[in-house]
Amino acid sequence: MSKKIYAVIAVVIVVCLGFFLSHQGAEEETRLNVMFGGVGYEFEAINKQIDVWKEASGENVQVNAAVRGTDSRLQQYLPHLQTSAMDIYQVDVGWAPMIADVMEDLHDHFTKEELAVFHPGLLRAGTVNGKLVFLPLYVQWLRLYVRTDLLDKYQLPMPKTWEDIQKCSAIVMDKENALRSDKSPFWGIVFMGQPYEGAACILLSAMASHTKGHNIFDASGDLAVNSEGNAHAWSMIYSWLNGDANYPPIVQKGVLSYTQESARQAFQRGDALFMLNWPYAEELLDAPDSPVKGKFIVVELPAQKGMESSPVLGGAAVAVSVYSQHKKEAVNLLKHLLSFEEQRMRAERYNYISGRHDVLIDEQLAKKRPCMKSYARAWGNAIARPASRFKKWSAAGFKLGSSAHTYWQGKSPDPVPFLKQLHSELSNMLV
Ligand code: GLC
Repeated sequence: MSKKIYAVIAVVIVVCLGFFLSHQGAEEETRLNVMFGGVGYEFEAINKQIDVWKEASGENVQVNAAVRGTDSRLQQYLPHLQTSAMDIYQVDVGWAPMIADVMEDLHDHFTKEELAVFHPGLLRAGTVNGKLVFLPLYVQWLRLYVRTDLLDKYQLPMPKTWEDIQKCSAIVMDKENALRSDKSPFWGIVFMGQPYEGAACILLSAMASHTKGHNIFDASGDLAVNSEGNAHAWSMIYSWLNGDANYPPIVQKGVLSYTQESARQAFQRGDALFMLNWPYAEELLDAPDSPVKGKFIVVELPAQKGMESSPVLGGAAVAVSVYSQHKKEAVNLLKHLLSFEEQRMRAERYNYISGRHDVLIDEQLAKKRPCMKSYARAWGNAIARPASRFKKWSAAGFKLGSSAHTYWQGKSPDPVPFLKQLHSELSNMLV
């Protein structure tokens, strides 16, 4: 009897041990955790790429969704950044100095030849004290969306200057609003006005494209917020919202709570003549069921007369956590996402602009997306955010947006007191 009991106990022990060991095996299987954004086609594109890699490598990947706005995304990442919770992050191209300590130096994982295909400006944006913190997943720079059907209807020329925007808007708004039977307003321009990174990018582009205006640092690198050109740029947007001696308001104040997606939706509904936004919106606006399909084009941002268009550089990049427990696999996946074939797939299928020069000039891609070749030159003018000059660019960018906000909503059209105040606040935030 007791022998039987011993035998049963032995069998139970063997079965449990077997279960434990096989369970252990499953735990040890590589399972990467990655965090990616979901604006427009972002999530669809990345899942498609990751599925190909999973199939080829036999590895497992948990794709976690990042929140939309870039500022809230940074907040979402903060609790994870100093842990091994995530192996790969999708990061903003303006974030390098803020994440430099917690990301792998990609020089250790990519050869010089592998890196040479990427645009040098983007490699610079990803480099902090010689450390290459990220590589570009796709590139953006602020552009102007134009309803060409309406410009044609009223025989107006394509705007080149900021003043053209106000002039055309006033004419078209007047006519179109008179025709609208439902009385919903038609506006001249929509843009990301919420005081977050989006509004900061709009402001930097507007300031840098005005005479004696700049990216808040002057030519010798000194903080110079209260310059003549910057004041012009701020009051130009004040007039868009409040009107001035020559023109009526060309947008409602509701735009001050718009993000890139709310601006895109307003333009897509057909409620505005112009939009300032990133290139990702083009593919969505051109979808078969879009009310503005075939009725718009995307051109470079205007500038003040005699000045150059100066759009801010944006886009998304990918980085590997220094705390990753699976660095080899994570780097392997990163290389797959950035490979020539995968970057061409993203461009061909979703119109994402690659940071790889060889993809932009590819003949096969040119057949489907003829514009890509010209992009290789077009974003040469794009300006980087002055992120590396601040302890925390996210806070400085927010300050810039919120200070402009208070001014735009106030009664006085004079921006100078706000610019002076902002100068002193930003000077306490420098590195
Ligand atoms: C876009 C850009 C990004 C920028 C953000 C701000 O996602 O790609 O660089 O910071 O918009 O709105």
